[in-house]
Amino acid sequence: MGQQPKVYVTRSIPEAGLGVVREACQARVWQEKLPPPRQVILEEVSDCDGLLCLLSDEVDATVMDAGELRVISQYAVGVDNIDLEAATARGIPVGHTPGVLTEATADLTFTLLMAAARRIPEGIEKVQSGAWQTWEPMGLLGAQVWGATLGVIGLGRIGTAVARRGRGFQMRVLYHDTEHKWKLEEELGLIYASLEELLGEADFVSVHTPLLPETQQLIDEGALRRMKPQAILVNAARGEIVDTQALVRALEEGWIAGAALDVTDPEPISADHPLVRLENCIVVPHIGSATVRARERMAEMAAQNLLAGLRGERLPYCANPQVYQVIDG
Ligand code: DGY
Repeated sequence: MGQQPKVYVTRSIPEAGLGVVREACQARVWQEKLPPPRQVILEEVSDCDGLLCLLSDEVDATVMDAGELRVISQYAVGVDNIDLEAATARGIPVGHTPGVLTEATADLTFTLLMAAARRIPEGIEKVQSGAWQTWEPMGLLGAQVWGATLGVIGLGRIGTAVARRGRGFQMRVLYHDTEHKWKLEEELGLIYASLEELLGEADFVSVHTPLLPETQQLIDEGALRRMKPQAILVNAARGEIVDTQALVRALEEGWIAGAALDVTDPEPISADHPLVRLENCIVVPHIGSATVRARERMAEMAAQNLLAGLRGERLPYCANPQVYQVIDG
């Protein structure tokens, strides 16, 4: 039997995937709670054939050139931390984990939406602090979700799953995307809207685009000012899609009623940041895909991608399929 390929795994992931990697490779695994420092990644990849990384690792051309990686496998669906162009130019396929975290992330998005609408964190705080003294006729009044208008920005897998949930609550669901999704419109009863229309009409605006140069700070001051004063912004996609400073002002000055965020810019966000301190903002620590089932499937897929790349086979879930034009010449 030939020598096993060498791989570096930047954090301990569920055994469903890690076990498979360990069996087939000489795997070195970063065991700490926080991500490995950049210098460690640069040193570790220098003799590796494969890298299994997380969204908290910056994987750019310098990392790629620090060794002779044959595959990069990301334990996430989003790959904005990886320079895909640089990987493609070097003939390195990049794997990711689409599909298996869709419903978990949509569940979390809807949880955030409802928690913000019904002011759940304020209610919990009231009980825990002993401030709850009686049933209050005017206390903690929130927004009704049932029958309200939901605006979904980005009708990909997760956006669609959120739209389905909205329809389950009899919501009028507007969506904006780079193109009409006629089949889904018909199947789910969705309404296409320009970004401006969606922002102006929705009671709940939910962001589901990938982070790309064109979606960076898509929700800027202008977008926030276009929203209704009673509207709530939900972001479970990437923090950089929303202009943080503008959002703080929008929440402080009442341009919008509230926000609920699974992702932030910066991430992690400090405990004394205004977004964390504001009563009309909920922040949770990027847990969209954090169910046992989703994370196990993500680990399995990340392992499948890694091993396929090491064997020189096409990755089953490839984020830069153009790489095969480079590889196949
Ligand atoms: C992803 O996969 O991109 C999520 O943000 C984390 O699971």
